[in-house]
Amino acid sequence: MSAKPVAAPLVQARDLAKTFDVSAPWLNRVLERKPRQLLHAVDGVSFDIEKGQTLALVGESGCGKSTVARLLVGLYRPTHGGLTFDGQDAHAAFKTAEGRKLRRRIQMIFQDPYASLNPRWTVEDIVGEPLTEHGIVTDPAQLEARVGALLQSVGLSPLDMVKYPHQFSGGQRQRISIARALATRPEFLVCDEPTSALDVSVQAQVLNIMKDLQRQHGLTYLFISHNLAVVRHVSDQVGVMYLGRLVELSGKQQLFENPRHPYTRMLLDAIPKLHDTGRSRTPVQGEVPNPLNPPDGCTFHPRCPHANSRCKAERPALLTIQGVKIACHAVEEGRI
Ligand SMILES: Nc1ncnc2c1ncn2[C@@H]1O[C@H](COP(=O)(O)OP(=O)(O)OP(=O)(O)O)[C@@H](O)[C@H]1O
Ligand code: SF4
Ligand SMILES: [Mg+2]
Repeated sequence: MSAKPVAAPLVQARDLAKTFDVSAPWLNRVLERKPRQLLHAVDGVSFDIEKGQTLALVGESGCGKSTVARLLVGLYRPTHGGLTFDGQDAHAAFKTAEGRKLRRRIQMIFQDPYASLNPRWTVEDIVGEPLTEHGIVTDPAQLEARVGALLQSVGLSPLDMVKYPHQFSGGQRQRISIARALATRPEFLVCDEPTSALDVSVQAQVLNIMKDLQRQHGLTYLFISHNLAVVRHVSDQVGVMYLGRLVELSGKQQLFENPRHPYTRMLLDAIPKLHDTGRSRTPVQGEVPNPLNPPDGCTFHPRCPHANSRCKAERPALLTIQGVKIACHAVEEGRI
């Protein structure tokens, strides 16, 4: 009997990069003798997400998490590298007629449920728009039924569809955003800080709804958060980003119980109860360098207690070390 073929990961990001040209206008550059300035917001990021799993991305503000999210849903084209979705080159497909189908399969949930919902539309318009836009439902009665079912799936009442966004709380609005994102029956949801704008008690409710929906529909998530407690609750894999690059990528349990990269350790050390291995703590120190002028070598070296001369000169590659992906010379050399 032949072995069952192993399915490829649903999402495969390969060496994804996005560079922004943030130069002053041409005339100013010439008059003030300023060089062109390029900002490497995402600088060669690779990861896989298996179907039905959640990869969380963490890292301090400005490390490139939202830029990765926007690359994954096709809001940005990569400067370099690519994305394979279900075996298909996504960025090639986004440009063609096939791209419409692909956009139905990949949806995004944004951080701010206040800004992302049109205040002049009823909930029925908001949740129903992707259905009419993609020609999935044309009959008004059918549309109402589908919107009602979507609202119920996120714990709201079908009677809510005649209301406007301002008539809901923050948590309820985020549920409306989720219902809208689910309208086209997507397989992959990119969630950029979906609960950060909500009160802690409401956060848990929304996260639980997202987890239930994942189980029911086999959804695959990329989940961005700077809150490690949230990440621990929702993720299967965790990627830690620093200045546009992944510095550690591993299973959730491994990452929380045995963080290897000095930066991951620094992030975890900031939350005492989450992480108590008996290892001495390094308090969070220093600030993220200017991304327009990043340090040579390992960009974390000015903040790293283990930095040496190699770290200042040579950029560490993301290597698989004892089953975990890490970009750190000290880990590779067995110094830590
Ligand atoms: N459209 C843009 N044009 C120029 N620079 C940009 C643009 N979008 C993002 N950047 C820069 O790219 C870097 C990464 O930004 P990004 O928004 O991806 O970070 P982030 O990790 O999502 O941060 P936060 O946690 O604050 O949301 C930052 O230095 C940011 O200033
Ligand atoms: S490569 Fe060097 S500077 Fe960078 S995290 Fe590892 S030890 Fe620290
Ligand atoms: Mg962001």
